Amino acid sequence: MGVAQVSTPHGLIGHENTVSEFYGTFPYPWKPVYFDRMSDPDFHAALIRQETGRAGLGPIRRIWVAGCGTNQALITALQFPAAEVLGTDVSAESLAICRQNAEQLGVTNLRLVQQGITQAGYDREFDLVVCTGVIHHNPEPRRCLERLSAAVRDDGVLELMVYNRFHRREAESFQAALRILAPESEHGHRERYALARSLAGSLQVESTMTKHLEDTRRSPEPAWADRWMNPCETSYDVDSLAGLARECGLLLEAPKVNGFDKMRRRFLWTTELTDPELLAPYERLDDLARWQLVNLLHLDNSPMLWFYLRPDRAGTGTRVSDADRNRMFLDGVLDRPKAVRHRHVLDRDGAYHPDPNASEVAAWPAWPEVKAIQEAADGRRTGREILTGLGYGTGFNAVQRARIMLTTSEFPHLTVTPAG
Ligand SMILES: C[S@@+](CC[C@H](N)C(=O)[O-])C[C@H]1O[C@@H](n2cnc3c(N)ncnc32)[C@H](O)[C@@H]1O
Repeated sequence: MGVAQVSTPHGLIGHENTVSEFYGTFPYPWKPVYFDRMSDPDFHAALIRQETGRAGLGPIRRIWVAGCGTNQALITALQFPAAEVLGTDVSAESLAICRQNAEQLGVTNLRLVQQGITQAGYDREFDLVVCTGVIHHNPEPRRCLERLSAAVRDDGVLELMVYNRFHRREAESFQAALRILAPESEHGHRERYALARSLAGSLQVESTMTKHLEDTRRSPEPAWADRWMNPCETSYDVDSLAGLARECGLLLEAPKVNGFDKMRRRFLWTTELTDPELLAPYERLDDLARWQLVNLLHLDNSPMLWFYLRPDRAGTGTRVSDADRNRMFLDGVLDRPKAVRHRHVLDRDGAYHPDPNASEVAAWPAWPEVKAIQEAADGRRTGREILTGLGYGTGFNAVQRARIMLTTSEFPHLTVTPAG
């Protein structure tokens, strides 16, 4: 594959034109302050194997980043240097930003195409499909998810994020109110942005809305517009997302920890209950019921709906569960990763330059609550031996927390190798 390129439009129709105009005016997201590469080309694939528990997942050779915005396809191409990455989006402006950065970084395994997801006809072509923050901006998200589902190979992985309805009450209310005061049919996106900012500053009644508006007042323009004046959004809870996935021949397999939840310390799909009478039924729940319970009880403090899904076209329901993943963590040998991170940093001139200081992943400190486990990992002992030796519990919540905070993409502190 040659240098990153932007292909020309594939005839956007209907709502995808509206999305294209909106994200053309506010290309999302803003410029990142760095781009990373790992010395080990298998580093990120290995993390997907660990985070999904699909130890036998084959090599990731072809990836589709659908609705990639300004940088997700480039980040993915850097994470999977041995894969061919296709980035598609309806926004030509976002793709142009992505191409410019890719060229500066000398990335050659990336192809960018302006294309609406509903117009894509890929048939079981990709080992990995990534689509985060996209389908819920379409009036019929199911039409998008069907295309994504069709594009994943039978043994492939789909990384999907849709809005959690308990996070979106204020944004959705503001968007609807803005539509009453400043209909899209009467104003351009820039004019509406000015009106929306003015409305945000004019509210006199204190509420969670004014609090959220205040919290985001200094957000970069694309983030503010994306949140408060999006032309279209739908949100879900675990149950309704699982239902949508089922209709599209997919199963929710594993939560994917993400940087936003990590920052807010709300990345665990477990809840702590003090009454032993409640603990027993809680520990018997299957994953979907537990995730929904946490979604309902933790409400605005529940994690984002960011999951790995797998095709289940025959409806067998076969998947790896959290309990399976915890068992693999307990029975596997824990060790420090060998990879080294190289970074390109954004300079004042707006360009990315290599940072001369490489950073060893093994030296990144784990969070205090699991640091002793990280320090005890020696490439010989299993998770169970280490946790027991340190006096950690091996109950469901304790193991789940240790596994998530030590072996996932946001916490890549330890590798897990099956014993023997
Ligand atoms: C909130 S941004 C998310 C960008 C990127 N996925 C990320 O997580 O950084 C949503 C992106 O999805 C794109 N998008 C929305 N609906 C789409 C569709 N039906 N087909 C292609 N792109 C779409 C938008 O143009 C925009 O760039």
